[in-house]
Amino acid sequence: MRAVQVERTGGPEVLVVREVDDPKPGPGEAVVDVAASGVNFIDVYHRTGHYPVPLPFTPGTEGAGTVAAVGDGVGQVRPGDRVGWVNVVGTYAEQAVVPADRLIALPDGIDFETAAASLLQGMTAQYLVRTTYPVRPGDDVLVHAAAGGMGQLLTQLVKHLCGRVVATASTPEKADLARAAGADVVVGYDEVVDAVRAFTDGDGVAVAYDGVGADTFEASLASLAPRGYFVSYGSASGPVPPVDPLRLSRAGSLFFTRPTLAHYIAAREEMLERADEVFRWIADGVLRVTVTARYPLTEAGRAQADLEGRRSTGKLLIVP
Ligand SMILES: NC(=O)c1ccc[n+]([C@@H]2O[C@H](COP(=O)([O-])OP(=O)(O)OC[C@H]3O[C@@H](n4cnc5c(N)ncnc54)[C@H](OP(=O)(O)O)[C@@H]3O)[C@@H](O)[C@H]2O)c1
Repeated sequence: MRAVQVERTGGPEVLVVREVDDPKPGPGEAVVDVAASGVNFIDVYHRTGHYPVPLPFTPGTEGAGTVAAVGDGVGQVRPGDRVGWVNVVGTYAEQAVVPADRLIALPDGIDFETAAASLLQGMTAQYLVRTTYPVRPGDDVLVHAAAGGMGQLLTQLVKHLCGRVVATASTPEKADLARAAGADVVVGYDEVVDAVRAFTDGDGVAVAYDGVGADTFEASLASLAPRGYFVSYGSASGPVPPVDPLRLSRAGSLFFTRPTLAHYIAAREEMLERADEVFRWIADGVLRVTVTARYPLTEAGRAQADLEGRRSTGKLLIVP
């Protein structure tokens, strides 16, 4: 089968397509024919070595497809089942080996592309608004990079939960996408603090969902209401600086958390509950998942370059 391989860390050019042995399922594992793979920022962190992965490896942590074979002891799925999964490295390929207890059965109305476009970012947005900081009606919420994959989902969910969204985006076109997702106010990154104060009558927001990181840290901190939640869920612009607890105290007894999907779906039951809610939101029209570009395996490098180069909106897929 063909698979993208990373043999050394570096720029998008280190993604190369190789012919490799067809995978065989070990005990407790399934081999899946990959129909589509999501492109996520974590794939960039793996490629650059920001999050180290043993070399060589096949990138990609979000996939959907059809079970081709199962190993000993697998009871959850059978060959022919339609499934999706996240957080198992190796989806930029024609086939992937996945622990069977990480597979999520796809409901009838969810096609492969929708699953590969919604599972990782959808479950992340779900745990952020349901569990990390449960959004309540009337909450004012700051969402950065609201035209991006995560940002559009978060904005839609906060509106669904009857909150109000102040959003950031870097261009007028991206601002239009953030508004289409439901943002009440969309501003550039330099205007955040003033816009939040004006929109909230000086109160500040209940929660800042910040996946941009280094470049937005100060503005997020300055935008929060007393006892507000700083949810630092990513670092698209670079790592967040060390946080001095006294700054959180002085800024209003703030909460600071750095959540990661893995810890919110570690238990299979919890993972399935989150996926189920994401799929129901899609079926009910609460969540609109927008696939904006599809790339073949040979163009995986261009897909990642578009994501990290701020040229993308919505969701990017690799279709092998
Ligand atoms: N913690 C978790 O569980 C979890 C799970 C999934 C994703 N994430 C995080 O969520 C964040 C968003 O991921 P995504 O895949 O949905 O990407 P994305 O938001 O579609 O793309 C990143 C966006 O960030 C904005 N950005 C601002 N400064 C940037 C910079 N210096 N370089 C690159 N982008 C910059 C850009 O939007 P503008 O041009 O509008 O500024 C860009 O389009 C990432 O930090 C990712 O690691 C975290």
